[in-house]
This record gives sequence, C-alpha cells and structure tokens, in this order.
Amino acid sequence: MNILFLNGPNLNLLGQRQPEIYGRTTLADIEAKLRELAAQAGAAMDFRQSNHEGELVTWVQQAQGKFAVIVINAAAYTHTSTALRDAILAAGVPTIEIHLSNIHAREEFRHRSLIAAVCKGQIAGFGEQSYYLAFQAALQLKGS
Ligand code: DQA
Repeated sequence: MNILFLNGPNLNLLGQRQPEIYGRTTLADIEAKLRELAAQAGAAMDFRQSNHEGELVTWVQQAQGKFAVIVINAAAYTHTSTALRDAILAAGVPTIEIHLSNIHAREEFRHRSLIAAVCKGQIAGFGEQSYYLAFQAALQLKGS
C-alpha cells in the first residue's frame, strides 16, 4: 500500500503562516508523524509540496499505477484549478481532499472546491489531524 501526499502553494510556510488559522506545526512535523503512522501500518508513502500548479498536475498524473491513494491539500488551487480536477479524473487514483482549516466556515470564495466532486471525500477543519485522519481513511479505502 503506497500513499501519495500532495501539498499545494504556501504550505511550505506552515508553522509561521497565519498560525491562528493553520497552527504552529510545520509541514516537516506532519510528514514525520505520517511516516511513523505509515511504518506502524506497514504502508509506504511519498510526501511532496509544490507552489506550482503544473507540478502538482504532473505528480497526480504520474501517480497512476504507482500509488493506491492520493491525499491532497491543494491549498489555494482547491478553489481555482480545473487542471487539478481534470488530472485527478484522468489518473483514476482514489483521492482524498484535505484542509487544515474548515474552508466552509471561512470566506465565501473558499467554500467552493473544484476538486471535491472528483474526490472520494473531504476532510477539513481538524488542523494537522486532517492529515492523520486522511491516512486512516486511505487505509480503509484499500481495506488494509
Ligand atoms: C487550506 C485552505 C485553503 O483555502 C487555503 O488557500 C490554504 C490552506 C487549508 O489547509 O486549510 O492554503 O487548504
């Protein structure tokens, strides 16, 4: 079981970026915790971040045949990227959308996700726990 975690723009700044919304945990901390969980579960994982839409699209495309599940925090591209939506559809890899914050309780432009309808489901609003919950959901999706 191989899980691909993808992180979109500005998530490299986690820990220092609007901590009142996103918390003080860094992306490296989250990756380290996920690696512990994966080791315990006997799962493999890859964890990537990019500020570039095209790079995220390429990674989604390349996941086909290599990863059982994609977990994606597309960050601001959630609300704008038809290209990411199309890539998720084209790759055909079951995908879980996640957000640290509850996007539905924030500004109106964040309420709409262009990728939600092509994902298995969405986890939002649990801070860093959104990642760990998604990890559990990914295991369940694949029945391990
Ligand atoms: C986010 C929510 C997005 O609206 C925002 O643009 C982000 C982070 C979250 O994890 O809460 O960059 O995806």
